[in-house]
Amino acid sequence: MKTEILPLNSSSAKKAAELIHSGNVVAFPTETVYGLGASVFDKEAVKKIFAAKGRPADNPLIVHVASKDKICTVASEIPKKAQIAIDTFMPGPITVVLPKRKEISPLVTGGKDTVGVRIPEHKLARMFLEECDCPIPAPSANSSTKPSPTTAKHVFDDLNGKIPLILDGGACLGGVESTVISFCTETPTLLRPGLITLEMLRDALGEVDVHPSVLENCKVDSVASPGMKYKHYSPKARVIIVSGSAETVCSLYDSALELSKRPVILWNEKDKDVLGSRAHYWLIEHNCISSAARNLFALLRQVDDEGFDTVFITAVDKKDEGLSVMNRMLRASAFTVLDDSSSLQDLKTALQING
Ligand code: TXA
Ligand code: MG
Repeated sequence: MKTEILPLNSSSAKKAAELIHSGNVVAFPTETVYGLGASVFDKEAVKKIFAAKGRPADNPLIVHVASKDKICTVASEIPKKAQIAIDTFMPGPITVVLPKRKEISPLVTGGKDTVGVRIPEHKLARMFLEECDCPIPAPSANSSTKPSPTTAKHVFDDLNGKIPLILDGGACLGGVESTVISFCTETPTLLRPGLITLEMLRDALGEVDVHPSVLENCKVDSVASPGMKYKHYSPKARVIIVSGSAETVCSLYDSALELSKRPVILWNEKDKDVLGSRAHYWLIEHNCISSAARNLFALLRQVDDEGFDTVFITAVDKKDEGLSVMNRMLRASAFTVLDDSSSLQDLKTALQING
């Protein structure tokens, strides 16, 4: 199959809607990451999403709608707190998990009786959704386990030949996927942190629980958020988080070089003087954590393109947007964290070098 890339405008949105109505999948931009959508009412098309991505069938899809009045076409009930979240944060980078309507196939919800609903803030994404005139289930438009795509080129790199059309809306400004919060638990529960932060949610809703999988490698109750149990966001290179001083990062880099690795550091621009000639990219620009969210996935892809095999990333504070950045970094590193007390042997273990 030939994969076409078209700039997203009213005529390409019409073409995309026609493809959706004839049983195809289409990739489209949002303010967070690119999504891969199909009609919610077309089971064969929904199966094509899972096939193109190589996604496990029990991992539910987020259903996208163009406006608030459409939420009830997907959800059977909107609890009071969920309504507050909808009024406060939507359209925006947030997904609310609600009881599902029976018309929504279990194929979409990974067999669950709940459904995640999202209204993107991205105006062109909403134009595409309006043109489709049906709810659009859409996971991130990457191959399963790869970092989520934040440009049309990332989508093309993963799905070329597997999907007919990518709508190009330029680079995504958010860069990490939406916040996922469930209103199907007694207290609202944060399942995946994003740019609508835990602090913002607690300000608006009062008490909000945090699912343990947000920061832990949690295999036990993965049922609440199936997406969190799978390997995620990984480049080919080995990712190691360093929760320590700038000197520690540099000395780990030097040791990796001596071990014949090709390391690179994802770094805070403000600490540039410590780096010397070590290979690096700026993860955090102008000391602003939102830039880390915007840059992380694109940099994880770039390190592979440039042939680096070891990536050191400095840990960030888990507050505000930092929680979503750490959540993605921990998964990309398979929860591998070194610190000031780590030895050469710890580094070898992290790099899976024997002896
Ligand atoms: O920003 C985003 O959310 C992007 C764009 C395209 O909208 N979409 C996205 O979808 O990131 P995906 O499929 O890559 O991630 C969906 C996450 C998964 O972790 C999944 O388990 C969780 O949301 N999820 C979806 N429906 C759920 C449900 N009913 N209950 C619990 N978790 C759910
Ligand atoms: Mg995804």
